[in-house]
Amino acid sequence: MSLPDLTIRPRRLRSTPTLRRMVRETSLSTDDLIYPLFVDETLSEPRPIASMPGVSRLPLSHVGKAVKAAAASGIPGVIFFGIPAYKDAIGTEAWNDDGIVQRAVREAKDASPETCVIADSCFCEYTDHGHCGVLHGEHVDNDATLENLQKEVVSYARAGVDMIAPSGMMDGMIGAIRSALDESGFPNTPVMSYAVKYASAYFGPFRDAADSAPSFGDRSGYQMDPANAREAIKEAMLDIAEGADILMVKPALAYMDIIAAVKQATDVPMAVYNVSGEYAMIKAAAEKGWIDERRVVLETMLGFKRAGADMILTYHAMDIARWLNHG
Ligand code: PBG
Ligand code: ZN
Repeated sequence: MSLPDLTIRPRRLRSTPTLRRMVRETSLSTDDLIYPLFVDETLSEPRPIASMPGVSRLPLSHVGKAVKAAAASGIPGVIFFGIPAYKDAIGTEAWNDDGIVQRAVREAKDASPETCVIADSCFCEYTDHGHCGVLHGEHVDNDATLENLQKEVVSYARAGVDMIAPSGMMDGMIGAIRSALDESGFPNTPVMSYAVKYASAYFGPFRDAADSAPSFGDRSGYQMDPANAREAIKEAMLDIAEGADILMVKPALAYMDIIAAVKQATDVPMAVYNVSGEYAMIKAAAEKGWIDERRVVLETMLGFKRAGADMILTYHAMDIARWLNHG
């Protein structure tokens, strides 16, 4: 029996570890990672988050240590989510210069000046109803929210933040932030936009972690419909036109096509958010012994890189750094 023509044999380049290393197209480094941190104004000791094994809400007193540990592992950036002691209808604590994130930013910069300290900028953790802005009836008022967002980001900038990351999916949020920062003397503070953020069930554990579940309805009036792909390009283009320095796609795992498409269509660095539900699924399966956590996490991160991510926000960051640093 004759064989087909096998002049071309892809297996040749897979035959030794060295050859595989030489032809590898994508790599993962600690430089790619951004580590999310939850800071809770009401705590004096860390409090574990049940649905996110290995992740805790931190008291302010533990922030410096956590940021230093991330820096020592080679992680260049952290992003803060604040849980304030006081919430109200519009989220005024978000622009209190002595608010929890403002104080966490100062602690972080003191502890590790070279770390890129990012502030997630939204209102759902600060409002008593859990929506991402000012309500008008049951509707989130876009333009009233933008005015508060301007106050919030200027307050973070005054605290010394290195980057602003607005996550509320309000129309015009990047332009509003850019002009507020520029007019307040912070023209060099970059904005990482949660440009393409879907109304996703994968955020479930986060809402417990950050106390930010909406008390009625859902976020589909402002976050994107998971069915839409072309709209992702529209959102990305709008944010670039408004001055976004970095774009984010979120969630990541179920949106690999979107990551690739946004990368293709744009020329700014792209971040992806490996969200709480994605983290919880891997942790749960690993705890049961059903998957190899290390290999699955590293393969997932490599997948994000291959799809086009330049940086990855992930709760696995400290574990990944340990695996990369110590094999
Ligand atoms: C707040 C915000 C959310 C996340 C980041 N910023 C939750 C939401 O929009 O409901 C999700 C992060 C995660 O699930 O890990 N706007
Ligand atoms: Zn929000």
